[in-house]
Amino acid sequence: MERKFRYGMVGGGPGAFIGAVHRAALRLNDESELVCGCFSSSAERREEMALELGISKERNYATAEEMALAEAAREDKIDFAVIVTPNYLHYSGAKAFLEQGIDVVSDKPLTFTVEESRDLKRIAAEHGCLFGVTYTYTGHVMAREMRNLIRSGVLGDIRMVMGEYPQDFMLNQLEHSDETNIPWRSVPALSGRGGSVADIGTHVENFVNYVTGLEIDSLCCHLDNLWTGGELDNNVQTLVKFKGGATGIYWASQVAIGYGSALKIRVFGDKGALEFMQEESNYLRLTLRGKPPMILSRGSDYMTPEAKSYSRIPPGHPEGVVEAFANIYLDFCRALRDKAAGKTVVEETYGYPTIDMAIRGVEFYNKCIDSSQAGSTWVKLGSE
Ligand SMILES: NC(=O)c1ccc[n+]([C@@H]2O[C@H](COP(=O)([O-])OP(=O)(O)OC[C@H]3O[C@@H](n4cnc5c(N)ncnc54)[C@H](O)[C@@H]3O)[C@@H](O)[C@H]2O)c1
Repeated sequence: MERKFRYGMVGGGPGAFIGAVHRAALRLNDESELVCGCFSSSAERREEMALELGISKERNYATAEEMALAEAAREDKIDFAVIVTPNYLHYSGAKAFLEQGIDVVSDKPLTFTVEESRDLKRIAAEHGCLFGVTYTYTGHVMAREMRNLIRSGVLGDIRMVMGEYPQDFMLNQLEHSDETNIPWRSVPALSGRGGSVADIGTHVENFVNYVTGLEIDSLCCHLDNLWTGGELDNNVQTLVKFKGGATGIYWASQVAIGYGSALKIRVFGDKGALEFMQEESNYLRLTLRGKPPMILSRGSDYMTPEAKSYSRIPPGHPEGVVEAFANIYLDFCRALRDKAAGKTVVEETYGYPTIDMAIRGVEFYNKCIDSSQAGSTWVKLGSE
């Protein structure tokens, strides 16, 4: 590909959280340019955003469907679409682009139901489209290092995983809202049937799967709604059994005072243990049996070359969430380039989270809710 990739964005309007992070990440890589969008449900806000981002009037669209059709008809059409709307629009938005043969990157959780996510996988396959899902934390360099170390057998026989993701922003959001401005994350029609279990519980499930390869066989879950009112869970505790016999404990909360985005994953084998903490994402804690803990630092020469290749600046200069997103986009654009060159693209080998991971995430949160609603009974995954 001798030119930059062209992309369009659905969502990410004025004041939106994650759309701006996606754009910053894509700018950092400097291999894609934003040429169109449907940034908001409000015409006024769409116009405001298009103006700010230098998008022409004719490529400032009212809906994802209109954008997909109009772009597909252009000579200079987009190479991929980025979907960063509230959850309820992911399915219809992604479907619209895939049906026009346009590759898609969507944020998580991908859809409300497993059937919808499987449907997107089927449509993507039918149209030969790539599909990336931005489970952010898999893009951290030290997440890649953790995966490489585990794959090389450093931990030995993995039997135990502890995953937690506490945040506290929901306490404040709901306190400052009334019925006219309830955040979409608390509205089932916009968010889906899961609250924190879908919003951040899926990050725990995905991160563990990404770095260890472990897949959940069954789970037993208890959902709570603490203090804030609202219809959806804001605190969730889950016991998991993995295929192959390892077990784990997951906790996700959006009402845990004092925590911003404290994803922490600990993996234990019989030879060693690894700990990744997202708020300290430039480091990884490795303890080999019988030895004192070691703190591995991003970008250092002792890292595996593959993980080190994602490190942009020398050790000691922190990289963060924007770089993590950018690394996911590096992988995705490498796949796009190979596809454009006519090579066979096996998405799992590029490093970005795939639609199969998205399907697992959607099944995970739905099964957590099923389990909790049935009185915290054990529920099997992968049974339908
Ligand atoms: N990967 C991550 O780490 C991460 C972090 C935050 C959010 N997310 C996900 O990203 C998505 C967006 O979350 P957010 O926090 O940015 O929400 P947000 O409310 O800050 O932004 C959502 C944007 O979508 C726009 N929008 C709403 N309806 C629209 C429509 N019909 N057409 C076009 N645009 C529309 C809104 O105007 C807004 O600009 C969610 O699915 C969320 O789960 C992922």
